[in-house]
Amino acid sequence: MVPIIKNRLVVLGVIAVLASVISAAIAHEGASGIVKMRMDKFKQSQQQLKSLIAHTKAEKYDEVARLAGYLAEWGAQIPAHFPKGSTQKPTEARPEIWLDFENFTAKAEAFRLAAIRIEEAARLNDKGAVSQAIQDTAASCKSCHAMFRAK
Ligand code: HEC
Repeated sequence: MVPIIKNRLVVLGVIAVLASVISAAIAHEGASGIVKMRMDKFKQSQQQLKSLIAHTKAEKYDEVARLAGYLAEWGAQIPAHFPKGSTQKPTEARPEIWLDFENFTAKAEAFRLAAIRIEEAARLNDKGAVSQAIQDTAASCKSCHAMFRAK
């Protein structure tokens, strides 16, 4: 390939990557303070879950355990990221969170415990148990969203 064309393709590739990063940032435009912080954390946890699944397929259990540990830490921090009155736009948090904070906290705890089960199974290199715990973890995300996240 003519070098100049090759360079153009590289540049186009870089632009495409930048565009995707920027569009992810725009989705959070207008969010600030604790609302922005928790949105960023949830996004990050989603990425971590994705790469955790990829590492499970590759049987890289050290990585799986490390990422599961991060998820469990985040699970412990979720309730503190929802102080009363933090309903500023563009939040997707439903008011039900503060009407039933006990249930919300219980769902965060169920998520934390499922992530810890991933970590423990990964330390035993037990693929079957890791896969089961990943499914339970993903179910715990969905279960909280169904009740407490708008959309
Ligand atoms: C205890 C409840 C709860 C659990 C558990 C939970 N979420 Fe959420 N999630 C929420 C709420 C509430 C919001 C909306 C936050 C806001 O907009 O202020 C949210 C928002 C999100 C968002 C959107 C963030 C954004 O950029 O707007 C993503 C992505 C997400 N969660 C992924 C996950 C994943 C992946 C898991 C599990 C690994 C998970 N969540 C577990 C309650 C939960």
